[in-house]
Amino acid sequence: METLLDIRNLHVMYKTDDHDIYALNGVNLTLEKGTTLGLVGETGAGKTTTALSIMRLLPDKVGFITSGEIYFEGKNILDLSEAQMREMRGSDISMIFQDPMTSLNPMHTVGTQIGEVIKLHNRDLSKSEIEARVDEMLEMVGIPAERKIEYPHQFSGGMKQRVVIAIALACNPKLLLADEPTTALDVTIQAQVLTMMNELKDNLNTSMILITHDLGVVAQICDSVAIMYAGEIVEKGTVQDIFEGEVHHPYTIGLFGSVPDLTKKTDRLNPIDGLMPDPTELPPGCRFAERCPYRKDICTQTSPALVELGTHQIKCHFPQNAKGDR
Ligand SMILES: Nc1ncnc2c1ncn2[C@@H]1O[C@H](COP(=O)(O)OP(=O)(O)O)[C@@H](O)[C@H]1O
Ligand SMILES: [Mg+2]
Repeated sequence: METLLDIRNLHVMYKTDDHDIYALNGVNLTLEKGTTLGLVGETGAGKTTTALSIMRLLPDKVGFITSGEIYFEGKNILDLSEAQMREMRGSDISMIFQDPMTSLNPMHTVGTQIGEVIKLHNRDLSKSEIEARVDEMLEMVGIPAERKIEYPHQFSGGMKQRVVIAIALACNPKLLLADEPTTALDVTIQAQVLTMMNELKDNLNTSMILITHDLGVVAQICDSVAIMYAGEIVEKGTVQDIFEGEVHHPYTIGLFGSVPDLTKKTDRLNPIDGLMPDPTELPPGCRFAERCPYRKDICTQTSPALVELGTHQIKCHFPQNAKGDR
C-alpha cells in the first residue's frame, strides 16, 4: 500500500484574547491510498481542527500550527505557498464542512456553484461539458438535474448538504475530508449519501477521512479507525483491531459502550461520565486519567507511550481487555 497522507507530531493552538487553547497535542496519523479512515471522538477532541489543518484553513490570526508536519504524497504541505495550497484545495484535497449552511453562497444557483469548481480545475472543458458534469454530480447525490437553476434557500438542510457533497466531489479529489457529512440529514438519506460516498471511494480510488459520531458508519465504511481525545490519537488500528481487538484504550471501551461487534448496524457514541480536560490547562500524564476507571498513580504523572500490537496502537499505561465490558 502507498501512503497518501502522513501527519507527524502535529500541534495546533488557538490564541484568543483570554486563552491559549491547546487543540492538537502531537497528532500522528497515516492514511493509505484508496482507504477510508474514521476519526472518532467526543465534541472538542480536535477532529475538525485536524481536518482544517490538512486544508490549511485554520482561522486566520487565531489558529496556529505550532509544530509538526503534514505530508501529502510525500510533500510537506506546511511548506507550500498560499497560492500552491489554493491550487491543491478542491483538486487534490477537498473538504465537506460540518455546517453545510455556511459553505454555500446564497447569491448563486447551486448549478453555478458546482460548475465553478469544475471549471476552476478543468480549464479545457467546454461549457456544455461542464453543464453535463454539473447534472451528473447533482444526480449522483440524488437531486434532479433541473433543480440546478435554484438557489440554496430553495433547498432543505438535507438537500443543501447534498449539494455541498457534490461540490466537494466535483473534481475527483485524491483526499476527501468529510466532517460529520451526514449529521444534518435524515436517516434514509444518510444511508443513501454514505453508500454514494462509499461507491465513489471504490470507483475513483478516493481516500477519505470520515469524521463521525456514528460507530455503525465506521464499521460499515472505514478501513481504519483513529480515536481522538483532548488533541491526541489515543487508539488507532484497522476496523477489525478497533471492533474486535483483545485490548483497548479505556476511552474507546467507554465510547463503544454496548457496541458488541462489527455486525451491529448503528450506534451512537456512549456518554462517559465526566468532562474532557480544559484545553487551556491540560493535565500532566494521561489526559483521560481523571475519567478513567482503571487509573493508577503513574497515569496522572507520566504520559503513556504507545503500545504497539501489530497494526493496533494504544496510548495507555494499562490497555484493558474489553470483553467483560462489551
Ligand atoms: N476558532 C476557535 N477558537 C478558539 N478555540 C477553538 C476554535 N475552534 C476550535 N477551538 C477549540 O479547539 C478544541 C478542538 O475543537 P474541534 O477541533 O472543533 O473539536 P471537534 O471537531 O472534535 O469537536 C476545542 O477545545 C475547541 O473549543
Ligand atoms: Mg468538529
